[in-house]
Amino acid sequence: MSSKSVVSQLNKAVPSFDMALRPQTLDEYVGQPQIKQNLSIALRAAKQRHEPLEHVLLYGPPGLGKTSLAYVIAHEMGGNLKITSGPALERAGDLAALLTNLQAGDILFIDEIHRLNKTIEEVFYSALEEFTLDIIIGKGPSAQTLKLDLAPFTLIGATTRAAMLSSPLRGRFGMHYHLDFYSEDELAQIIKRSATLLQVAVEPPAIQELSRRARFTPRIANRLLKRARDVAQVEADGTISLDIARRTLELLGIDDLGLEAQDRQILRIIIETFDGGPVGIKSLSSHTAEDIQTIEDMYEPFLLQRGLLTRTPKGRSVTKRAYDHLGSSLDHSNLDRRNPLM
Ligand SMILES: Nc1ncnc2c1ncn2[C@@H]1O[C@H](COP(=O)(O)OP(=O)(O)O)[C@@H](O)[C@H]1O
Ligand SMILES: [Mg+2]
Repeated sequence: MSSKSVVSQLNKAVPSFDMALRPQTLDEYVGQPQIKQNLSIALRAAKQRHEPLEHVLLYGPPGLGKTSLAYVIAHEMGGNLKITSGPALERAGDLAALLTNLQAGDILFIDEIHRLNKTIEEVFYSALEEFTLDIIIGKGPSAQTLKLDLAPFTLIGATTRAAMLSSPLRGRFGMHYHLDFYSEDELAQIIKRSATLLQVAVEPPAIQELSRRARFTPRIANRLLKRARDVAQVEADGTISLDIARRTLELLGIDDLGLEAQDRQILRIIIETFDGGPVGIKSLSSHTAEDIQTIEDMYEPFLLQRGLLTRTPKGRSVTKRAYDHLGSSLDHSNLDRRNPLM
């Protein structure tokens, strides 16, 4: 692994691993108390009325539990979960085939729903609103519209960028939930649960250290745990102690605030090339050789949350805290040159 950062590797969805650790029920789903509270009321009400749950839109940075929540909802409603993604639906026919195959109470999950193309989106409207599908057969003056009835279903849409959704589509979701970053305590709970599932012993100070440096993100917390399990197995007796946790983080080039090389590079470029900012996202992208979407989805939300970056209409600027952090860690240049473990 040369140029691609650890973070994008750590935060990549890998189905088998994600599946094993995925919560099944609302109780097992850690954190997001407000979403859970509202959702549990909506779930109970829909079940009492024997109706499908209204369509749900989930948005937030990658790795915060959108897909997991879709599984939980399907499990709680007792419906089948059908999974697809915006870019996978290319033609209106793809959508028609998918929708006509749904059974009453099924849950359709569309990941990256902001990438649904416009023609498909328009076909979708009547399906979402009244569970019918208008199909046009033939061309020209002899063309006919065929109205198909669909089984009542629930759409769960997930997106990292709600602003990119058209407002007619957004308006057809009955519930909009914005997933927040997780606290260290919540991440500690997740790590504890995952360690039990993976049958690895982790000492409490190690759990704390890993939670503290996991970018407030469950997927990263689980990945760090898995890397630490490797280190513990190869370099020690299999137990993840504080030393093993620290050694793992060091091997990954993850510093005290949970930043990795690419985060520090972004901050450093803003400081050194743009005098602290503000700098537009396009310039930042060309100077860091990361695409705009990766910066906006993976790095920026975390740096904003950490209070190292601010965003204004003029662009991004670093905060005093970023100067302090980069200035205080003298070994960073060393850390950044190291080749990460994965
Ligand atoms: N609230 C949560 N409680 C427990 N584990 C979680 C939670 N949210 C996410 N995870 C863990 O993090 C992994 C990534 O979450 P995922 O739902 O795939 O995120 P997203 O779809 O938002 O990118 C899951 O496989 C699961 O192990
Ligand atoms: Mg997902």
